[in-house]
Amino acid sequence: MDNSSWKRIQKLRQSYLDAKAYLPDYWQDDELLLAYDETLAQRIRWKWRAVLEALPVPVSELPKTIVDWGCGSGGASRELLHLHPESFEKVVLLDRSTRAVKFAARKVKDEHPKITIDSKVPSSAEPFLLLISHVLSELPDEELKKLLPLLRKASHILWVESGRPQESRKLSALREDLRDTHVFLAPCPHQNICGMLSAGQEENWCHFKAPVPKEVHLSAFWREASKQLGFDLRSLPVAYLFAQARTLSLALPSNDRVRILGGSRQFKGYTRFHACHISGIVQADFMKRKSKKIYEALAEPALDSLYEHRELFSSESGEDESDAKVE
Ligand SMILES: C[S@@+](CC[C@H](N)C(=O)[O-])C[C@H]1O[C@@H](n2cnc3c(N)ncnc32)[C@H](O)[C@@H]1O
Repeated sequence: MDNSSWKRIQKLRQSYLDAKAYLPDYWQDDELLLAYDETLAQRIRWKWRAVLEALPVPVSELPKTIVDWGCGSGGASRELLHLHPESFEKVVLLDRSTRAVKFAARKVKDEHPKITIDSKVPSSAEPFLLLISHVLSELPDEELKKLLPLLRKASHILWVESGRPQESRKLSALREDLRDTHVFLAPCPHQNICGMLSAGQEENWCHFKAPVPKEVHLSAFWREASKQLGFDLRSLPVAYLFAQARTLSLALPSNDRVRILGGSRQFKGYTRFHACHISGIVQADFMKRKSKKIYEALAEPALDSLYEHRELFSSESGEDESDAKVE
């Protein structure tokens, strides 16, 4: 990438970081979309990869139609199609920028010639998987409200955001707008109000650390990108929500599971971890002597890190251990 493209992407990234839930349409030309697609969108796709790998239902059981809202260069739907090319038949690309929709459509067509591409929201009879990715930082509340009818119509919703507090907490709040129409399958281990919205949790947020693909660490391009754009290639925070329409039959798993959140720290003899449980957000210490395997797994929790409550909290004697704290 040439110097002027790096400069434009630096400026775009800074505008995302500074955006206070609003940005004007910034896709001025295809060169900017291309530079975004090769840099920031790739990093977002690593998050999608991690989220898709952690999905609690097989991708083959999802609807055959994808709706990618706020598609930009189409990174979310293209990553899904790249990983599961046989599972989908149609992609609907939606964005306020027609330039972005055209760019994304061209990319999807080049990469998956058999996929039908559309720009109309499916009719009520057609089930669809709604993908939303990295829009909250630039979406005013009025625009989010306008999006609700589409969200409520979706048979499945998969929404991925950066792991920053402000976007993650908005996703937590959004659950309440969807509660009548959807159940929450991930990362939520229960259907109650999100624990992050309880009093005392204002400084906390639901997020995870997605892995950066190994080859990235060996790549001169990504070393340069990290230098130019100032991102840390070891750390990829992500927040997400996966929901399914209540009208679809589903046996909900036990409510007594514990989802391990980002932010663990390993000490000699124990791992301090954060987790979500129906009783609230928990900070607890897991002793190595109870299980070396769990002690190690908790230190670097994957996105699908989920335990039965008793696996983490009951002592050898069967009593609840006192080193757990519900915050
Ligand atoms: C940061 S980009 C993310 C693009 C893509 N989803 C991704 O993850 O790479 C945000 C996208 O949301 C679009 N967008 C912002 N506000 C919108 C709105 N009110 N309606 C539709 N699209 C919007 C922008 O045009 C832009 O393409």
